[in-house]
Amino acid sequence: MYNLLKGKKGIIFGALDEKSIAWITALKCHEEGAEIVLSNAPVAMRMGAINQLAEKINAPVIACDVSSADDVENLIVKTKEHFGGGFDFILHSIGMSLNVRKGKHYTEIDYVHNLKTFEISSMSLHRVLATCMKHDALNEWASVVALSYIAAQRVFPDYNEMADAKSLLESVARSFGYHYGVKKHVRINTVSQSPTRTTAGSGVKGFDGFISYAEKMSPLGNASAEDCANYCVTLFSDLTKMVTMQNLFHDGGFSNTGVTGAVIDQMEK
Ligand SMILES: NC(=O)c1ccc[n+]([C@@H]2O[C@H](COP(=O)([O-])OP(=O)(O)OC[C@H]3O[C@@H](n4cnc5c(N)ncnc54)[C@H](O)[C@@H]3O)[C@@H](O)[C@H]2O)c1
Repeated sequence: MYNLLKGKKGIIFGALDEKSIAWITALKCHEEGAEIVLSNAPVAMRMGAINQLAEKINAPVIACDVSSADDVENLIVKTKEHFGGGFDFILHSIGMSLNVRKGKHYTEIDYVHNLKTFEISSMSLHRVLATCMKHDALNEWASVVALSYIAAQRVFPDYNEMADAKSLLESVARSFGYHYGVKKHVRINTVSQSPTRTTAGSGVKGFDGFISYAEKMSPLGNASAEDCANYCVTLFSDLTKMVTMQNLFHDGGFSNTGVTGAVIDQMEK
C-alpha cells in the first residue's frame, strides 16, 4: 500500500460479485486510502452481494440504473451530500448487451435492444459526466475511467454488438475528455482490459477458447482483474495527472502482437 488515494473520494459503478473488476477495484481504492460510494442497478443490488463489499470498505450503496436520468441525477446529488462536496474519481465498469442475452446473431440484431445496449454500456458514461458537470460534482483534476475491450478496434465476431458499444464508449471518453479537461482539468480515459472471468465476460460465446487464445497471444499473459484494479488506482492517483482522452491497453501486450511462439506451436500440433 502506498496511500496513493489518501484524501480522495469517488464513485465505483458495477460491483456485482467478488469476481467483478469493480469489486476488486473498490477494495484496492479503499486500501490506498480512498472513500467510496458504491452504485449498481437496482436489479443487481437485489442479489445482495454488494452489501458485503459495502460493509468491508464502509461505503454507502446508492442504487442507480444508468439508463435512467432520474437515477443518475439522484446518485450524483446524494453522493455530493454524502461527501459534503465534490469528489475526485469515477469508475464506470458497466456492460450489458440485450441482443447477446437474447441470443441474436450480429447480422440479425433487434435495433430497439441495440439502442438500449448503447444507452447502458456507452452513453451512460456521457449521462454520468453531463450530470456531474451540471452539479459541478467533480473536483479539479478528477479522474474518470471506463472499462473497454479491444473489440472496439478489431473484429472478435462473438463479441457481437458490444464491439460497437465499446467503440462508442471510447469515443465518448475522448469527446467529453476534451470538454471537461478545458472546463475543469478533469481527465477521462478508457482502459482496454484482457478477457477476464466475470459474469459479464462469461456472457461472450466461446469465452473459454477466447480467454486461452488471448493468454497464448499475450507476451505477459492475460491481465487479471486484480492487475486491472491496480492500474485503475494509478489512473485515479495524481501520478498520472496529464493522461487524458486515451484508450489505454491493459492486456499483457496482446494488442501489439501479431503471433507468438505459443500460438505457432499450437497450430503445428
Ligand atoms: N470480463 C471481461 O472479459 C472484460 C474485458 C474487457 C472489458 N470488460 C468490461 O469491464 C466492465 C465490468 O465488467 P465485469 O467483467 O467486471 O463484469 P460484471 O458482470 O461483474 O460487471 C458488469 C456490471 O454492469 C452492471 N450493469 C448492467 N446494467 C446496468 C445498468 N443498467 N445500470 C447500472 N449498472 C449496470 C451490472 O450490474 C454489473 O455489476 C464492463 O464494462 C465490461 O464490458 C470486461
